[in-house]
Amino acid sequence: MNFVAALNEATAKNLQILEEHLRQSISDDKFIHEVCEPLIRGGKRLRPMLFMLCANSRKDCPTELTMPLATALELIHTASLVHDDIIDTSKKRRGVETANSKYGAQIAVLVGDYLFAKAFQLVAENNYSHEVTLILSNLVKNLCIGEISQDKSLFVVPTMTEYYTNINLKTAIFLSSCCKLGAIISDMTEREINNLTAYGSGLGLAFQIVDDLLDFFGDANVTGKPQGGDLKSGVITLPVIRALEKSNRADELRELVTRGNVTPEDIDNAIKIIRATDAVDYCRTRAQAHIDSARINLPDTLNTSAILALEKLADFIVDRTR
Ligand code: FPP
Ligand code: MG
Repeated sequence: MNFVAALNEATAKNLQILEEHLRQSISDDKFIHEVCEPLIRGGKRLRPMLFMLCANSRKDCPTELTMPLATALELIHTASLVHDDIIDTSKKRRGVETANSKYGAQIAVLVGDYLFAKAFQLVAENNYSHEVTLILSNLVKNLCIGEISQDKSLFVVPTMTEYYTNINLKTAIFLSSCCKLGAIISDMTEREINNLTAYGSGLGLAFQIVDDLLDFFGDANVTGKPQGGDLKSGVITLPVIRALEKSNRADELRELVTRGNVTPEDIDNAIKIIRATDAVDYCRTRAQAHIDSARINLPDTLNTSAILALEKLADFIVDRTR
Protein backbone atom coordinates (compact mmCIF):
# COMPACT_ATOMS: atom_id res chain seq x y z
CA MET A 1 0.00 0.00 0.00
CA ASN A 2 2.91 2.34 0.65
CA PHE A 3 3.42 2.91 -3.08
CA VAL A 4 0.31 5.11 -3.17
CA ALA A 5 1.76 7.19 -0.36
CA ALA A 6 5.07 7.29 -2.26
CA LEU A 7 3.25 8.83 -5.23
CA ASN A 8 1.84 11.59 -3.16
CA GLU A 9 4.07 13.22 -0.54
CA ALA A 10 1.18 14.77 1.37
CA THR A 11 -0.54 11.38 1.73
CA ALA A 12 2.66 9.75 3.03
CA LYS A 13 3.01 12.46 5.66
CA ASN A 14 -0.66 12.27 6.63
CA LEU A 15 -0.50 8.50 7.04
CA GLN A 16 2.42 8.88 9.44
CA ILE A 17 0.46 11.40 11.51
CA LEU A 18 -2.56 9.07 11.42
CA GLU A 19 -0.54 6.27 13.06
CA GLU A 20 0.19 8.56 16.00
CA HIS A 21 -3.50 9.56 16.31
CA LEU A 22 -4.55 5.90 16.21
CA ARG A 23 -2.06 5.02 18.96
CA GLN A 24 -3.34 7.93 21.08
CA SER A 25 -6.96 6.87 20.59
CA ILE A 26 -6.37 3.55 22.38
CA SER A 27 -4.19 4.85 25.21
CA ASP A 28 -6.90 5.97 27.71
CA ASP A 29 -6.76 2.62 29.50
CA LYS A 30 -3.90 0.11 29.98
CA PHE A 31 -5.92 -3.04 29.23
CA ILE A 32 -7.66 -1.48 26.21
CA HIS A 33 -4.22 -0.54 24.89
CA GLU A 34 -2.91 -4.08 25.42
CA VAL A 35 -5.86 -5.60 23.53
CA CYS A 36 -6.11 -2.99 20.76
CA GLU A 37 -2.46 -2.31 19.91
CA PRO A 38 -2.04 -5.57 17.92
CA LEU A 39 -5.47 -5.03 16.32
CA ILE A 40 -4.70 -1.62 14.85
CA ARG A 41 -1.24 -2.75 13.65
CA GLY A 42 -0.87 -3.91 10.03
CA GLY A 43 -4.06 -2.59 8.43
CA LYS A 44 -3.96 -1.17 4.92
CA ARG A 45 -5.49 2.15 6.12
CA LEU A 46 -7.51 2.19 2.91
CA ARG A 47 -10.49 4.07 4.38
CA PRO A 48 -8.62 6.98 6.02
CA MET A 49 -6.27 7.15 3.03
CA LEU A 50 -9.19 7.48 0.60
CA PHE A 51 -10.79 10.10 2.82
CA MET A 52 -7.58 12.15 3.09
CA LEU A 53 -6.74 11.84 -0.62
CA CYS A 54 -10.21 13.11 -1.53
CA ALA A 55 -10.11 15.89 1.09
CA ASN A 56 -6.81 17.16 -0.36
CA SER A 57 -7.59 16.49 -4.00
CA ARG A 58 -8.51 20.03 -5.11
CA LYS A 59 -6.79 22.17 -2.47
CA ASP A 60 -4.89 21.47 0.74
CA CYS A 61 -7.15 20.69 3.67
CA PRO A 62 -5.72 21.42 7.17
CA THR A 63 -4.73 18.26 9.11
CA GLU A 64 -6.69 19.55 12.16
CA LEU A 65 -9.77 19.08 10.01
CA THR A 66 -8.90 15.73 8.43
CA MET A 67 -7.07 13.81 11.18
CA PRO A 68 -9.82 13.23 13.79
CA LEU A 69 -12.25 12.02 11.10
CA ALA A 70 -9.57 9.90 9.38
CA THR A 71 -8.84 8.28 12.77
CA ALA A 72 -12.55 7.76 13.42
CA LEU A 73 -12.97 5.99 10.05
CA GLU A 74 -10.14 3.53 10.82
CA LEU A 75 -11.53 2.97 14.35
CA ILE A 76 -15.03 2.20 13.00
CA HIS A 77 -13.48 -0.21 10.49
CA THR A 78 -11.42 -1.92 13.22
CA ALA A 79 -14.47 -2.15 15.52
CA SER A 80 -16.45 -3.81 12.71
CA LEU A 81 -13.62 -6.34 12.13
CA VAL A 82 -13.43 -7.16 15.86
CA HIS A 83 -17.18 -7.89 15.84
CA ASP A 84 -16.97 -9.70 12.50
CA ASP A 85 -14.31 -12.04 13.91
CA ILE A 86 -16.57 -12.87 16.88
CA ILE A 87 -19.45 -13.66 14.51
CA ASP A 88 -17.20 -15.81 12.26
CA THR A 89 -15.24 -17.28 15.24
CA SER A 90 -12.09 -16.34 13.30
CA LYS A 91 -8.74 -16.95 14.92
CA LYS A 92 -6.48 -14.77 12.82
CA ARG A 93 -6.72 -11.26 11.37
CA ARG A 94 -3.98 -9.02 9.95
CA GLY A 95 -1.56 -11.87 10.74
CA VAL A 96 -2.22 -11.80 14.50
CA GLU A 97 -4.55 -13.66 16.86
CA THR A 98 -8.06 -12.13 16.95
CA ALA A 99 -9.40 -10.53 20.16
CA ASN A 100 -12.11 -13.22 20.48
CA SER A 101 -9.55 -16.01 20.20
CA LYS A 102 -7.16 -14.41 22.70
CA TYR A 103 -9.58 -12.93 25.28
CA GLY A 104 -12.96 -14.57 24.54
CA ALA A 105 -16.08 -13.16 22.88
CA GLN A 106 -17.21 -11.18 25.95
CA ILE A 107 -14.09 -9.00 26.07
CA ALA A 108 -13.97 -8.77 22.26
CA VAL A 109 -17.58 -7.43 22.07
CA LEU A 110 -16.71 -4.74 24.61
CA VAL A 111 -13.44 -3.82 22.91
CA GLY A 112 -15.29 -3.44 19.58
CA ASP A 113 -17.85 -1.23 21.35
CA TYR A 114 -15.03 0.82 22.89
CA LEU A 115 -13.36 1.46 19.50
CA PHE A 116 -16.73 2.37 18.03
CA ALA A 117 -17.50 4.80 20.90
CA LYS A 118 -14.01 6.30 20.64
CA ALA A 119 -14.62 7.02 16.94
CA PHE A 120 -17.78 8.97 17.70
CA GLN A 121 -16.08 10.76 20.61
CA LEU A 122 -13.46 12.07 18.15
CA VAL A 123 -16.21 13.28 15.83
CA ALA A 124 -18.15 14.95 18.67
CA GLU A 125 -15.04 16.65 20.12
CA ASN A 126 -14.03 18.16 16.79
CA ASN A 127 -17.21 19.96 15.82
CA TYR A 128 -17.90 18.20 12.55
CA SER A 129 -21.17 19.10 10.86
CA HIS A 130 -24.51 17.38 11.26
CA GLU A 131 -24.07 16.03 7.70
CA VAL A 132 -20.79 14.30 8.66
CA THR A 133 -22.46 12.54 11.61
CA LEU A 134 -25.36 11.50 9.36
CA ILE A 135 -23.00 9.99 6.74
CA LEU A 136 -21.11 8.10 9.46
CA SER A 137 -24.23 6.74 11.16
CA ASN A 138 -25.68 5.77 7.78
CA LEU A 139 -22.56 3.83 6.81
CA VAL A 140 -22.52 1.95 10.14
CA LYS A 141 -26.25 1.21 9.81
CA ASN A 142 -25.62 -0.26 6.34
CA LEU A 143 -22.64 -2.28 7.60
CA CYS A 144 -24.96 -3.85 10.20
CA ILE A 145 -27.79 -4.48 7.69
CA GLY A 146 -25.26 -6.14 5.34
CA GLU A 147 -23.83 -8.30 8.09
CA ILE A 148 -27.31 -9.30 9.36
CA SER A 149 -28.56 -10.24 5.90
CA GLN A 150 -25.37 -12.26 5.32
CA ASP A 151 -25.77 -14.05 8.66
CA LYS A 152 -29.42 -14.87 8.01
CA SER A 153 -28.44 -16.75 4.84
CA LEU A 154 -25.33 -18.70 5.85
CA PHE A 155 -24.79 -21.88 3.81
CA VAL A 156 -27.41 -20.63 1.31
CA VAL A 157 -26.35 -19.79 -2.26
CA PRO A 158 -27.25 -16.14 -2.94
CA THR A 159 -28.40 -14.92 -6.34
CA MET A 160 -26.02 -12.54 -8.14
CA THR A 161 -28.34 -9.67 -7.13
CA GLU A 162 -28.28 -10.70 -3.46
CA TYR A 163 -24.48 -10.98 -3.56
CA TYR A 164 -24.12 -7.47 -5.02
CA THR A 165 -26.62 -6.01 -2.54
CA ASN A 166 -24.56 -7.47 0.29
CA ILE A 167 -21.16 -6.29 -0.88
CA ASN A 168 -22.61 -2.85 -1.49
CA LEU A 169 -23.87 -2.69 2.12
CA LYS A 170 -20.76 -4.29 3.64
CA THR A 171 -18.03 -2.52 1.72
CA ALA A 172 -18.98 -0.17 -1.12
CA ILE A 173 -21.06 2.21 1.00
CA PHE A 174 -18.19 2.49 3.52
CA LEU A 175 -15.60 3.33 0.85
CA SER A 176 -17.91 5.73 -1.01
CA SER A 177 -18.71 7.45 2.31
CA CYS A 178 -14.97 7.98 2.93
CA CYS A 179 -14.71 9.74 -0.45
CA LYS A 180 -17.91 11.71 0.12
CA LEU A 181 -16.68 12.88 3.54
CA GLY A 182 -13.38 14.02 2.02
CA ALA A 183 -15.22 15.97 -0.69
CA ILE A 184 -17.66 17.52 1.82
CA ILE A 185 -15.13 18.72 4.36
CA SER A 186 -13.09 20.38 1.62
CA ASP A 187 -16.18 22.24 0.33
CA MET A 188 -16.37 20.69 -3.12
CA THR A 189 -19.23 21.30 -5.52
CA GLU A 190 -22.22 18.95 -5.57
CA ARG A 191 -21.02 17.48 -8.86
CA GLU A 192 -17.55 16.77 -7.42
CA ILE A 193 -19.09 15.22 -4.28
CA ASN A 194 -21.32 12.93 -6.37
CA ASN A 195 -18.48 11.93 -8.69
CA LEU A 196 -16.09 11.11 -5.85
CA THR A 197 -18.87 9.15 -4.11
CA ALA A 198 -19.40 7.11 -7.30
CA TYR A 199 -15.61 6.58 -7.57
CA GLY A 200 -15.59 5.17 -4.01
CA SER A 201 -18.55 2.94 -4.71
CA GLY A 202 -16.86 1.31 -7.74
CA LEU A 203 -13.70 0.88 -5.70
CA GLY A 204 -15.68 -0.76 -2.88
CA LEU A 205 -17.44 -3.29 -5.12
CA ALA A 206 -14.10 -4.22 -6.74
CA PHE A 207 -12.38 -4.39 -3.34
CA GLN A 208 -14.91 -6.89 -1.97
CA ILE A 209 -14.87 -9.07 -5.11
CA VAL A 210 -11.05 -9.28 -4.87
CA ASP A 211 -11.34 -9.95 -1.12
CA ASP A 212 -13.69 -12.87 -1.89
CA LEU A 213 -11.22 -14.23 -4.48
CA LEU A 214 -8.28 -13.88 -2.06
CA ASP A 215 -10.24 -15.85 0.54
CA PHE A 216 -9.87 -18.91 -1.75
CA PHE A 217 -6.76 -18.17 -3.77
CA GLY A 218 -4.67 -15.82 -1.61
CA ASP A 219 -1.60 -16.83 0.38
CA ALA A 220 -2.67 -17.02 4.06
CA ASN A 221 0.78 -15.73 5.07
CA VAL A 222 0.19 -12.61 3.01
CA THR A 223 -3.55 -12.03 3.60
CA GLY A 224 -3.10 -12.67 7.34
CA LYS A 225 -6.34 -14.74 7.36
CA PRO A 226 -6.85 -18.50 6.96
CA GLN A 227 -7.66 -19.80 3.46
CA GLY A 228 -11.31 -20.78 2.87
CA GLY A 229 -12.55 -18.77 5.87
CA ASP A 230 -15.72 -17.63 4.05
CA LEU A 231 -16.69 -21.18 3.12
CA LYS A 232 -16.04 -22.39 6.65
CA SER A 233 -18.30 -19.72 8.12
CA GLY A 234 -20.99 -20.33 5.45
CA VAL A 235 -20.54 -17.12 3.45
CA ILE A 236 -21.03 -17.98 -0.24
CA THR A 237 -19.35 -15.50 -2.55
CA LEU A 238 -18.90 -14.69 -6.27
CA PRO A 239 -16.27 -17.36 -7.15
CA VAL A 240 -18.68 -20.08 -5.92
CA ILE A 241 -21.79 -18.48 -7.44
CA ARG A 242 -20.06 -18.33 -10.86
CA ALA A 243 -18.59 -21.86 -10.58
CA LEU A 244 -22.06 -23.21 -9.74
CA GLU A 245 -23.30 -21.74 -13.04
CA LYS A 246 -20.43 -23.15 -15.10
CA SER A 247 -19.01 -26.32 -13.54
CA ASN A 248 -19.89 -29.87 -14.62
CA ARG A 249 -19.33 -30.73 -10.93
CA ALA A 250 -21.85 -28.09 -9.78
CA ASP A 251 -23.96 -30.59 -7.79
CA GLU A 252 -20.88 -31.68 -5.81
CA LEU A 253 -19.89 -28.05 -5.16
CA ARG A 254 -23.44 -27.08 -4.14
CA GLU A 255 -23.62 -29.98 -1.63
CA LEU A 256 -20.25 -29.05 -0.21
CA VAL A 257 -20.94 -25.33 0.30
CA THR A 258 -24.47 -25.76 1.72
CA ARG A 259 -23.92 -28.80 3.97
CA GLY A 260 -22.89 -26.71 6.97
CA ASN A 261 -19.84 -28.55 8.21
CA VAL A 262 -16.84 -27.63 6.05
CA THR A 263 -13.63 -29.65 6.44
CA PRO A 264 -10.14 -28.70 5.13
CA GLU A 265 -10.62 -31.35 2.38
CA ASP A 266 -13.89 -29.66 1.37
CA ILE A 267 -12.02 -26.37 0.99
CA ASP A 268 -9.37 -28.06 -1.20
CA ASN A 269 -12.10 -29.68 -3.32
CA ALA A 270 -14.04 -26.42 -3.69
CA ILE A 271 -10.85 -24.66 -4.81
CA LYS A 272 -10.19 -27.38 -7.44
CA ILE A 273 -13.76 -27.21 -8.78
CA ILE A 274 -13.72 -23.39 -8.93
CA ARG A 275 -10.30 -23.35 -10.61
CA ALA A 276 -11.50 -25.72 -13.34
CA THR A 277 -14.11 -23.13 -14.42
CA ASP A 278 -13.75 -19.54 -15.64
CA ALA A 279 -14.76 -18.22 -12.18
CA VAL A 280 -11.39 -16.64 -11.30
CA ASP A 281 -11.19 -14.79 -14.64
CA TYR A 282 -14.83 -13.84 -14.36
CA CYS A 283 -14.37 -12.32 -10.87
CA ARG A 284 -11.26 -10.43 -12.00
CA THR A 285 -13.10 -9.09 -15.06
CA ARG A 286 -16.03 -7.96 -12.88
CA ALA A 287 -13.66 -6.28 -10.40
CA GLN A 288 -11.81 -4.55 -13.27
CA ALA A 289 -15.12 -3.29 -14.71
CA HIS A 290 -15.96 -1.63 -11.37
CA ILE A 291 -12.48 -0.10 -11.23
CA ASP A 292 -12.86 1.23 -14.80
CA SER A 293 -16.16 2.86 -13.92
CA ALA A 294 -14.63 4.27 -10.70
CA ARG A 295 -11.81 5.89 -12.71
CA ILE A 296 -14.23 7.39 -15.23
CA ASN A 297 -16.00 9.15 -12.34
CA LEU A 298 -12.90 11.01 -11.12
CA PRO A 299 -13.68 14.74 -11.58
CA ASP A 300 -11.29 16.56 -13.94
CA THR A 301 -11.26 19.55 -11.57
CA LEU A 302 -8.96 17.71 -9.11
CA ASN A 303 -5.23 18.44 -9.08
CA THR A 304 -3.01 16.20 -11.21
CA SER A 305 -1.14 14.59 -8.32
CA ALA A 306 -4.43 13.65 -6.60
CA ILE A 307 -5.91 12.17 -9.79
CA LEU A 308 -2.74 10.11 -10.28
CA ALA A 309 -2.84 8.81 -6.69
CA LEU A 310 -6.59 8.01 -6.86
CA GLU A 311 -6.03 6.16 -10.17
CA LYS A 312 -3.11 4.21 -8.71
CA LEU A 313 -5.18 3.38 -5.64
CA ALA A 314 -7.89 2.01 -7.95
CA ASP A 315 -5.33 -0.18 -9.76
CA PHE A 316 -3.95 -1.39 -6.45
CA ILE A 317 -7.40 -2.70 -5.48
CA VAL A 318 -7.39 -5.30 -8.29
CA ASP A 319 -3.68 -6.12 -8.12
CA ARG A 320 -3.43 -6.51 -4.34
CA THR A 321 -2.46 -9.77 -2.66
CA ARG A 322 -3.58 -8.87 0.87
C1 FPP B 1 -15.38 -7.95 6.99
O1 FPP B 1 -15.83 -8.45 5.76
C2 FPP B 1 -16.49 -7.31 7.75
C3 FPP B 1 -17.24 -6.26 7.39
C4 FPP B 1 -16.98 -5.57 6.11
C5 FPP B 1 -18.34 -5.68 8.20
C6 FPP B 1 -18.64 -6.28 9.53
C7 FPP B 1 -19.73 -5.50 10.19
C8 FPP B 1 -20.24 -5.72 11.42
C9 FPP B 1 -19.77 -6.84 12.27
C10 FPP B 1 -21.32 -4.82 11.95
C11 FPP B 1 -20.83 -3.43 12.32
C12 FPP B 1 -20.21 -3.32 13.64
C13 FPP B 1 -19.63 -2.18 14.17
C14 FPP B 1 -19.15 -2.15 15.56
C15 FPP B 1 -19.42 -0.95 13.36
P1 FPP B 1 -15.66 -9.98 5.37
O2 FPP B 1 -16.22 -10.84 6.46
O3 FPP B 1 -16.20 -10.16 4.01
O4 FPP B 1 -14.08 -10.08 5.26
P2 FPP B 1 -13.01 -10.85 6.13
O5 FPP B 1 -12.64 -12.03 5.29
O6 FPP B 1 -11.88 -9.87 6.24
O7 FPP B 1 -13.62 -11.21 7.45
MG1 MG C 1 -15.42 -12.04 7.94
